[in-house]
Amino acid sequence: MNENPMVPDLSLPEAPSETSLSGVAGMGHAVVPGEIDISHGTILYLEDVTVSFDGFRALNALTLSIDVGELRCIIGPNGAGKTTMMDVITGKTTPDSGKVFLGQTIDLTRMNEPSIARAGIGRKFQKPTVFEQHPVWENLELAMKADKGWLSSLRSRLDREAQARIEETLGLIRLESEARRLAGELSHGQKQRLEIGMLLMQQPSLLLLDEPAAGMTDHETMELAELLNHLRGTCSMMVVEHDMEFVAALAGEKGRVTVMAEGRVLAHGSLDEVKRDEVVIESYLGR
Ligand SMILES: Nc1ncnc2c1ncn2[C@@H]1O[C@H](COP(=O)(O)OP(=O)(O)OP(=O)(O)O)[C@@H](O)[C@H]1O
Ligand SMILES: [Mg+2]
Repeated sequence: MNENPMVPDLSLPEAPSETSLSGVAGMGHAVVPGEIDISHGTILYLEDVTVSFDGFRALNALTLSIDVGELRCIIGPNGAGKTTMMDVITGKTTPDSGKVFLGQTIDLTRMNEPSIARAGIGRKFQKPTVFEQHPVWENLELAMKADKGWLSSLRSRLDREAQARIEETLGLIRLESEARRLAGELSHGQKQRLEIGMLLMQQPSLLLLDEPAAGMTDHETMELAELLNHLRGTCSMMVVEHDMEFVAALAGEKGRVTVMAEGRVLAHGSLDEVKRDEVVIESYLGR
């Protein structure tokens, strides 16, 4: 099984039928992508979200919101609750209390993982989850089919629009020359870009990236920053990262950075502002 609920599991003997798909969508709100109410300029809104594991509060009244089109970097020490927050947004973990909304109206706490993914939230896990035995091109094709619910045979002919989208995405992730290679032969950095490409094929409204630069060389890290900067505006993004150079490349001078610690927001502002914050220096950056 791969971790990404939007990507079909190729180990299945047959692709799931349309019926089973609509069965999943039937749980909670069935939301068609594009129906997110962004009239207030907010794509994601969390208020007083608390998650406890055996009495330990991994999230402790976390309140945070992301604007439409924003690329928000989240930093914070190990155990701050950053991944737990993404688990809550994507429906992997149900909060004990608090609000989690996509746009104005979509209550994510009432939805399961597949319906949240279909509502327009894509998640990049730390370890790249690509189909190693399939060519790069086919990885993108499969991801697109997951989006449309086009669960016909893998060999069905792609229409022109679909081909154009695959080519466009290959260009974005700079893997045009690798299109026919098996995904398993790519470098770590290329696999990470391919997975982002697969998420883009689903045309997400919000992309969550949890330590996307982990394990990358400096060069790969900067290529990834370039890609994400290029995507800015196409979809909103939340990027959790420890690599401060990478964060600096994404946040620039004006981008907002959120510092989390102990399950809540410790500080918020431009990278310069949070770096100068005494509380942040004490608890995270160190002296
Ligand atoms: N399923 C779980 N069961 C019990 N405790 C958990 C679970 N998931 C997370 N935790 C705990 O919750 C706290 C927050 O963890 P989380 O993984 O969200 O932190 P993080 O900010 O992503 O840290 P890192 O930077 O190391 O990835 C940690 O103390 C962790 O041990
Ligand atoms: Mg984490």
